[in-house]
Amino acid sequence: MCGIVGIVGRGPVAPLIVDALKRLEYRGYDSAGVATIDDGQMERRRAEGKLVNLEKKLQAEPLAGRIGIGHTRWATHGVPNETNAHPHFSTDVAIVHNGIIENFAELRAELIADGYVFASQTDTEVVAHLISRELKRGSEPVEAAHKAIRRLEGAFALAIIFPSHDDLIVAARNGPPLAVGHGDGEMFLGSDAVALSPFTDAITYLEDGDWAAIQRNGVTIYDIDGREIERPQTKARSTSFMVDKGNHRHFMEKEIHEQPEVIGHTLAHYLDFVEGRTRDIPLPFDFSQIDRLSISACGTAFLAGSVARYWFERYARLPVDIDVGSEFRYREMPISPNSAALFISQSGETADTLASLRYCRSQGVPIAAVVNVPESTIARESDAIFPTLAGPEIGVASTKAFTCQLAVLAALAVRAGVQRGHVSPEQERELVRFLSEAPRFATAALKLDDQIEKLARELSQVKHALYLGRGTSFPLAMEGALKLKEISYIHAEGYAAGELKHGPIALIDENMPVIVIAPHDRNFDKTVSNMQEVAARGGRIILITDTEGARRATINAMETIILPDVPEIIAPIVYALPIQMLAYFTAVFMGTDVDQPRNLAKSVTVE
Ligand code: AGP
Repeated sequence: MCGIVGIVGRGPVAPLIVDALKRLEYRGYDSAGVATIDDGQMERRRAEGKLVNLEKKLQAEPLAGRIGIGHTRWATHGVPNETNAHPHFSTDVAIVHNGIIENFAELRAELIADGYVFASQTDTEVVAHLISRELKRGSEPVEAAHKAIRRLEGAFALAIIFPSHDDLIVAARNGPPLAVGHGDGEMFLGSDAVALSPFTDAITYLEDGDWAAIQRNGVTIYDIDGREIERPQTKARSTSFMVDKGNHRHFMEKEIHEQPEVIGHTLAHYLDFVEGRTRDIPLPFDFSQIDRLSISACGTAFLAGSVARYWFERYARLPVDIDVGSEFRYREMPISPNSAALFISQSGETADTLASLRYCRSQGVPIAAVVNVPESTIARESDAIFPTLAGPEIGVASTKAFTCQLAVLAALAVRAGVQRGHVSPEQERELVRFLSEAPRFATAALKLDDQIEKLARELSQVKHALYLGRGTSFPLAMEGALKLKEISYIHAEGYAAGELKHGPIALIDENMPVIVIAPHDRNFDKTVSNMQEVAARGGRIILITDTEGARRATINAMETIILPDVPEIIAPIVYALPIQMLAYFTAVFMGTDVDQPRNLAKSVTVE
């Protein structure tokens, strides 16, 4: 994730912007920068690495100016160096950006054809030149920014300033969050309220599709068609948290909605979208030299690993064994000399997973870990870590960490396939392209919230539920059941759909809703047969499928949730969102403590 800040102030803004950037450190960064306008002149200071490097630069060469923007960066396009650090300039405009412009390659080609010269490898610079071109064509800044924003596809939070106007910041949000802070004769903009807390607690959150003109006397907000709209001004909650809930009722809801952004950032860390290849991530082993991969994790992390087993076996032809940490640590599994071990943990502190890691360490096995906390114990005891860039996950029920784990694991499986010679360059380009589409489809899944909320109201009346899936949808069925039971306290079980007739079908009657996760993939027709077995016994089916699946499913489901047709490799990532939302809304109707369910803890650091 990146962090962005903008201030149109009464006095010098550069020190205030740096102060705000410090409060965005939880979003991580690999470079940072500030740009200000003073007497019609646009100037910037940028530095690679930690924020302290930027501070040193500003102490040596201060920036004047009562209006400015600032940025902390996780590299998505372009290596993390000063050239690619934000803010980015074009003639008469400066910009900072959080997100991924999906159609940047075609826009970049169009602008180069128009004579624009790019100084960086970033997608962001495309936006700066688009706006500059509209200015040249005679548009005023606000109109120029609006025209450019309408050309963009993908996820973006933007802050834009113009040397011709020292009382105007244009902001835009489509995915990554943006908060407007109301001051007295000055206004603020930031990735969240925490960044603005030194200046104000009067906050207006922009919604997806909103853009705004911010001036010292206030803010005007528009929808994508340029119609003025109103957004509520709220009082930011206590900033003791390093993160806040924004417009959401619960951290879990906020974190469900952060997924398009954080999935995109995580994928960008492992995939080169421009070249269509997996990055040369440092590995403690060569996938082509191992004959087995052992995976161990707990809870939702275990289920992410269970999905990944299908990918490693399918794309890399690599045998995988996987077990929950509490079993793995005591099995004393014989370890083959040519094996490697992979551990998955959001917190990086789960005792059972750590113990399993230490067992493998004792056997001399090379160890890697997928973690969301790079300085955690599991990270420190691994030979290499593969970070998920989910940002802090506060809700006890894991959501964005899960889909980011899947994103990392999918990239690793493709990498393994390349190293083991089972994924050709053409296949690699195709798989990378498919993965790059995950954020967009995740955004589409979030738009099903009204339908899912209505369905959850009915689900909140039941005592038991069954989730079914085949292939990579089987671990997803287990994850759906885990989400439901851990936050709504409704008993739920996830089963391989093919296992239904080996016992669970005895449970089927009109009181047992059966949630079937079935994208139209290689297993779909078999799953339709399972649904017919359920329907024949009066079972109520909730089908989560895609447009082709809905057309082909010859059963009368109680409800059908229809997602877009997605490439097979990203189905587990995209289908995770509706099952998270179903559990979330059900728990809200049940009135449980969604963010801190009874008996649970965010990190189980004991056996
Ligand atoms: C998931 O919703 C649960 N909170 C729980 O199963 C969690 O995934 C498990 O405890 C593992 O935690 P970790 O990822 O921090 O190791």
